[in-house]
Amino acid sequence: MRILSGIQPSGVLHIGNYFGMMRAAIALQAEGEAFYFVADYHALTSLQNPKAMRENSHRVALDFLACGLDPDRAALFRQSDVPQVTELAWILGTVTPFSRLELAHSYKDKVARGVAASAGLFTYPVLMAADILIYDSDVVPVGKDQKQHIEITRDIATRINETFGEVFKLPEPRIQSSTETVPGLDGQKMSKSYGNTIDIFGEEKETRKRIMSIVTDSTPVEAPKNPDTSSIVQLYSLFATEAEVAAMKKRFVAGGTGYGDFKKQLFSALWDYFAPMRARRAEILAEPSYVDEVLARGAERANAIADRVMSRVRAAVGL
Ligand code: ADP
Ligand code: TRP
Repeated sequence: MRILSGIQPSGVLHIGNYFGMMRAAIALQAEGEAFYFVADYHALTSLQNPKAMRENSHRVALDFLACGLDPDRAALFRQSDVPQVTELAWILGTVTPFSRLELAHSYKDKVARGVAASAGLFTYPVLMAADILIYDSDVVPVGKDQKQHIEITRDIATRINETFGEVFKLPEPRIQSSTETVPGLDGQKMSKSYGNTIDIFGEEKETRKRIMSIVTDSTPVEAPKNPDTSSIVQLYSLFATEAEVAAMKKRFVAGGTGYGDFKKQLFSALWDYFAPMRARRAEILAEPSYVDEVLARGAERANAIADRVMSRVRAAVGL
């Protein structure tokens, strides 16, 4: 089984990325041949600063490794180190109906949030399809918001197969059922572009400050609170056992505890949860060339497969 996923270096990784995608990707590396990449071509649709691009790409790789990605099992690489993927994207674009892309909600969402409506942003799902199909991927672990992109990928692969014969495998999404969308500080989806994130490796003081700023209603300390609508409870349940979550919910309902106390409890659960990963990150940082070496090795493995698949594609379409 080949597993593939990508994450954009458009900012710093946050706990929504971790629970929505990274945790599953890391768990899956034991089950097959995993390929994970830093989607820098994709990030160009929103990040047009070469220094930030280089730094973020490096940091995303570092953070992914610190969270448990094992480079002896999974290949970790930069998307742009396999430039053939843009050739495949062109070929796939020639069978992709314009109308299919017009229906993609991610494009509309991003434009609504102020990302420039470039042709690149519009055809983003075609490049994503190429990312997936160029490695003959079986399984793609992603958060719920990426599901439509996998459906588009399957559509495009089917069109190619119908037109040119069996060229591609149809990939399956692996959506994290235990993790619905992780809420941000304001209760909206946590996202790099909303400024509402809790970063996986934020500084202690900053992380505490951010958690203390989670938006709540103005129920007074003494009054009972509703645990079912609280993002504090929702976030806490990512880090705590069922019994711990049940205990927090009980204290919500009982009244007499302010939101500040619950936030402190959330902070310490989160801080403890990521402690081993922070330790691993410090070890990696002590070895300055480690990340680059991992990326170079990953690129080599990725290129070997991409070259094979591209020969097959070129032959199939007559190039
Ligand atoms: P962002 O919205 O912060 O830019 P990306 O779009 O780069 O995040 O997403 C990277 C991966 O993390 C995707 O698989 C996405 O589904 C997942 N993800 C991002 N934010 C969340 C969230 N708040 N909850 C669950 N999964 C998320
Ligand atoms: N579009 C994904 C995101 O924004 C990143 C991505 C690019 C990806 N190519 C991919 C994810 C291929 C899975 C497979 O999160």
